[in-house]
Amino acid sequence: MKTTGNTILITGGSAGIGLEFAKAFSAKGNHVIITGRSEDRLQKAAAQLSNVTPIVFDVVDKDATDAFVARLESEFPDLNVVINNAGKASYYHLDGDQDAATLAEEEIVTNYLAIIRLNQKLLPLLKKANEAAIVTVSSIAGLVPNHFLPTYAASKAALHSYTQSLRITLNKSNIKVFEILPPLVDTDFSAEIGGATNGIPAKQVADELVEAFENNTYEILTGRTADVFNLFLSNPAAALQAMNPNVDLQTA
Ligand SMILES: NC(=O)c1ccc[n+]([C@@H]2O[C@H](COP(=O)([O-])OP(=O)(O)OC[C@H]3O[C@@H](n4cnc5c(N)ncnc54)[C@H](OP(=O)(O)O)[C@@H]3O)[C@@H](O)[C@H]2O)c1
Repeated sequence: MKTTGNTILITGGSAGIGLEFAKAFSAKGNHVIITGRSEDRLQKAAAQLSNVTPIVFDVVDKDATDAFVARLESEFPDLNVVINNAGKASYYHLDGDQDAATLAEEEIVTNYLAIIRLNQKLLPLLKKANEAAIVTVSSIAGLVPNHFLPTYAASKAALHSYTQSLRITLNKSNIKVFEILPPLVDTDFSAEIGGATNGIPAKQVADELVEAFENNTYEILTGRTADVFNLFLSNPAAALQAMNPNVDLQTA
């Protein structure tokens, strides 16, 4: 996949990993369209970038999706890359006071259903390009769960499965399907779970996506994700233990 001269939509491009994607691709001579819910955050992010269009768009807003796609079709007919980055996570205990079903619903809508909806509506536009790509941003937790992110992990597992099917479906088309599976990354999103201390820099995730485009590596096991994935293949119980280090699973 080429890494320059693309028109790239990045959902959730105003902060964290999405902003680093925007910085990396804008620096390489791509036009980046960044979205988010907060206009103020988008404008601050856009001020740091060149060749950028900020658009307020909440990925979970079903009714706004058609108008958003119509705007992309009319203003950006060359759009050829979609990076589905916006995500939602709740850190909680399944046996606690929180309403797990409500939290799970928010996560599954943001991390899974909204992505399916947007990708399907953008397929006709992407099919017009010589070379196109759809990227999903899942997680190490989508491969092996951490029990404090129970329904988030399940939503990312669903996203992982969907991405595999989409890749197979589009196998013979002009659209390449990439999935990046970060470990803990230092962003606002992970502040509550120790991202500032134990997370990798968001820039590393962006650099690995650019490299994956260059090499046509469709499943990107960033940082510690590769170790957990390999452990999962050789010893699934040990991988589950590694992702839940504060619980002794022998006695749980
Ligand atoms: N950080 C980690 O440790 C980690 C690890 C693995 C995977 N990931 C995944 O990486 C992705 C990005 O995470 P991050 O850590 O960069 O998060 P972040 O720092 O919280 O940034 C999230 C970005 O998404 C936007 N956003 C949130 N909800 C949105 C919505 N409904 N519609 C449109 N934009 C929305 C936010 O802007 P507004 O708030 O203004 O909308 C912001 O620009 C997520 O899919 C997450 O699951 C993160």
